[in-house]
Amino acid sequence: MSLVKLVSTAVVALSFSVAAWAQSPIVIKFSHVVAEATPKGQGAIKFKEVAEKLLPGKVDVQVFPSSQLFGDAKELEALLLGDVQFIAPSLSKFDRYTKKIQVFDLPFLFDDIAAVDRFQQGKDGKALLDAMQSKGLQGLGYWHNGMKQMSTNRDKLTRPDDVKGLKFRIQASDVLEAQFRALGANPQKMAFSEVYQALQTGVVDGQENTWSNIYSQKFFEVQKTIANTNHGVIDYMVVTNGKWWKSLPEDVRKALTQAMDEATQHANKLADDLNERDRKRIADAGKAKIQTLSKDDVAAWRKSMEPVWKKFESDIGKDLIEAALKSNG
Ligand code: LMR
Repeated sequence: MSLVKLVSTAVVALSFSVAAWAQSPIVIKFSHVVAEATPKGQGAIKFKEVAEKLLPGKVDVQVFPSSQLFGDAKELEALLLGDVQFIAPSLSKFDRYTKKIQVFDLPFLFDDIAAVDRFQQGKDGKALLDAMQSKGLQGLGYWHNGMKQMSTNRDKLTRPDDVKGLKFRIQASDVLEAQFRALGANPQKMAFSEVYQALQTGVVDGQENTWSNIYSQKFFEVQKTIANTNHGVIDYMVVTNGKWWKSLPEDVRKALTQAMDEATQHANKLADDLNERDRKRIADAGKAKIQTLSKDDVAAWRKSMEPVWKKFESDIGKDLIEAALKSNG
């Protein structure tokens, strides 16, 4: 082969591979642990739709719900290793990365999701999205789920005394551990995907979660009583790998940011309705009793959990707790 032919063959081969590279979409994996019919499940689907519409042929967004790809124990690690590009753990699951985020777990801090939203959108909430950059995590937004309700395999669940000595599954959060210890109960950290079986077999007696999670994971089938305690919040931070995010072409990052904003609005608009729908479904199923609490009952729960605030005040920072409190109506 002449030199000219050899060079031109090489040039053709090279331009083919450049074209193939330019055309092959960036694969973006979004992994989460809940069912599709939940606020987070719907938010992830919306993100895929918008991202693929804004970047046709440039991105291939693959959503993996229900711990199919990674469960609680592995998803943050997988994100840092580059095995997944987006995850949205509950805010309770970040305390290894920043102590400040524990503010969201303080019991009875926020009156409702509207207050949580005001805090997240304020200066302090926004700063928390960047608080884990040194650990390789970039927060892109907050997604709501809802307020937590407590459930057990006992008939009575109105007062703090009713949970004394019971075993509770908790998320991997030191604040939640302290919360159940303050109640005289025995907390056990456990991945979300293991909770149904643990409740069914009596490894634990109870748990705390939102109506949408209690319904979609069928916890109501293996619990006797669910009390509407509204004692805390389960919300999410959508996070990505900071290095990967910065390495994206500018136009791609811009479009993904827009897709994330639209997905955030979508999930947050749905959250209240999905929880209310699932509360009704649980009531209609007639398997677990829904226990309504009086103002007096709620005051008793609040008082029992109060010591938790003092315990974490120096880690979280008094100012941050005060800023969060101000977001209540
Ligand atoms: C849990 O682990 O109980 C929940 O936070 C799971 C989730 O992502 O909603």
